[in-house]
Amino acid sequence: MIKKFRLGNPFNTEAVVSEIKLSGLKSFPLTLSEGEKTVIKFSLDNDDMIFGLGETVRGINKRGWIYESWCSDETNHTEDKRSLYGAHNFIVVNGGEKFGLFVDFPSKIEWDLGYRNPDEAVIEIYGKDADIYYISGESEIDIVKQFRKIIGKSYIPPLWAFGYQQSCWGYAKQEDFVNVRENHKKNNLPLDCIYMDIDYMERFKDFTVNKELFPDFKAFVDEMKENNIHLIPIIDAGVKKEKGYFVYEEGHEKGYFCTDKDGNEFECGVWPGIVGLPDFLNKDARRWFGSKYKALTDMGIDGFWNDMNEPAIFYSVNGLEKAFKKLDEIKSKEVDIWGFFESKNAVLGVQNSMEDYSSFYHNADGKKICHKDVHNIYGAFMTKAAGEYFEEEFGKEQKLIFSRASYIGAHRTSGIWFGDNFSWWEHILLNLKMLPSVNMCGFLYCGADLGGFNNHATRDLLLRWLALGVFTPLMRNHRALGTRAQEAYQFGDCKDFADVLAVRYRLIPYIYSTFRRCSENGDMMFKPLAFEYPEDKVAREVEDQLMLGEECMIAPVYEQNKSGRNVYLPEDMTFVKLSGENVTKKEMKKGLHYVEISLNEVPLFIKNGKNIKLSKPALNTAKLDTENLENLL
Ligand code: GLC
Repeated sequence: MIKKFRLGNPFNTEAVVSEIKLSGLKSFPLTLSEGEKTVIKFSLDNDDMIFGLGETVRGINKRGWIYESWCSDETNHTEDKRSLYGAHNFIVVNGGEKFGLFVDFPSKIEWDLGYRNPDEAVIEIYGKDADIYYISGESEIDIVKQFRKIIGKSYIPPLWAFGYQQSCWGYAKQEDFVNVRENHKKNNLPLDCIYMDIDYMERFKDFTVNKELFPDFKAFVDEMKENNIHLIPIIDAGVKKEKGYFVYEEGHEKGYFCTDKDGNEFECGVWPGIVGLPDFLNKDARRWFGSKYKALTDMGIDGFWNDMNEPAIFYSVNGLEKAFKKLDEIKSKEVDIWGFFESKNAVLGVQNSMEDYSSFYHNADGKKICHKDVHNIYGAFMTKAAGEYFEEEFGKEQKLIFSRASYIGAHRTSGIWFGDNFSWWEHILLNLKMLPSVNMCGFLYCGADLGGFNNHATRDLLLRWLALGVFTPLMRNHRALGTRAQEAYQFGDCKDFADVLAVRYRLIPYIYSTFRRCSENGDMMFKPLAFEYPEDKVAREVEDQLMLGEECMIAPVYEQNKSGRNVYLPEDMTFVKLSGENVTKKEMKKGLHYVEISLNEVPLFIKNGKNIKLSKPALNTAKLDTENLENLL
């Protein structure tokens, strides 16, 4: 059962699509106090667990840390952090009483889940206007399904978006893309998409293509498509301020950019230099920005990734001026060690500063709203601009679109990726842990940068990471400029990579049908073991294995120099190792086991009495036979 409580006059975030009658605040089942901040409290028993919050650091069980809902351009996904790119304000508490809580509020929320006091959860909402949903149910998944019903069905991309995808910040010329395609082909490595990072544009201007690099872009897109490769360009939130640039001029003329307190366009620096931030909270501006994607869909492009939309602000013109002033001040005195730290902080503090987020404004239906009060829906509304345009123009399931920043509600029109991780072993595990949490919040089309974005990947890290990636709907290898090349053909003999990637294509029919079912009935593709085996004390605490669909359990290797791993079977299962076209099977009893897994193998566990169907491997989804499937067991 869902109860909705309203405080003040909340901003419509468009997260919930069902009409739910309001309940009186007196019947709110948890402690609630109103004031400048709204505070919700509830006590925690020893065994209580808390799930949810979507894209965040740390465990599947969120208890014992303090998180913040504040969409952040945060590249260091370390466990001291409190927020990443998304604001996913939904938790499920599994205690004596099971309940779900969704705080529909577009600005900052602090979730102290037993951090200051281990026996208490304290949720501080930074404002007076919010809708709060309290959901009671029989089980965790029952609560999740009720929630998913009111937020609407999850976005479904085209089937080819389930193929393997290669990306790299640094591919620029046509030849780079052709090389990637040919090297995959030559080495028997499947591939469906190649990503175009910011360098394809003309001076990082959205919806433009650098003509020197791509003299006939449409012909190039067509040629790639003939080879069954989709090119997926990036779109950034900031629009370069430049005279004569059609997007900027149109937006400027129509007043579609965010403004400062005096009504002048707010100016900040991102990749293109000084940009205007489109006002995605203004319905007309949102439609306008969405329609700009046409410049690229007209060229045959059918997929996009939206970036820097928290929004990321490297600096604002004002912020930079202030920092320089501060440095001059420090310089004019004798600089000691504290002066050094002061200078350092003055410079670092310029990026993504709260002062900047508090100093620009939106025009939402004629109402002037300070950005900081609606910060968490900015990126979501950018991506909805695109998603809504695609649905209107081309129909559902025709275009691939996913975003870095997100808020619940955007899951109906797009997917997400987990941003700038590192080529660290621990980030394989973080990737796994985020999956059920984002699924709870409706985001099904998701995945991490496989192989890691920052830092340098090794052959074994990439293979192990891909062996997890074969199960995630978005399976994309992406890395940052200046890091070690990590395409599957960069590490000598490609056979092991071909074996792992072939498994992905064998699994696509299963992953795709599971995905569709989960979108349709509000289920999670990936569940913590605790959801399925609540009575099993060991299973409840497992954080490095997940249940997949209704049939499987996954348990990837996520440590270096390991020839296998320990795995806990919460029931009797068949242990399967998939590699290329090979399948080995072994029946195993409930309990703890050590299993050996080579670098070219993908481990999978099938529940007793269940089975899944596999296709033959293929080099891309266009060549995949999704009709003639064979039983795995
Ligand atoms: C951001 C994105 C990353 C991209 C880079 C350059 O850091 O998260 O994926 O490669 O910008 O566009």
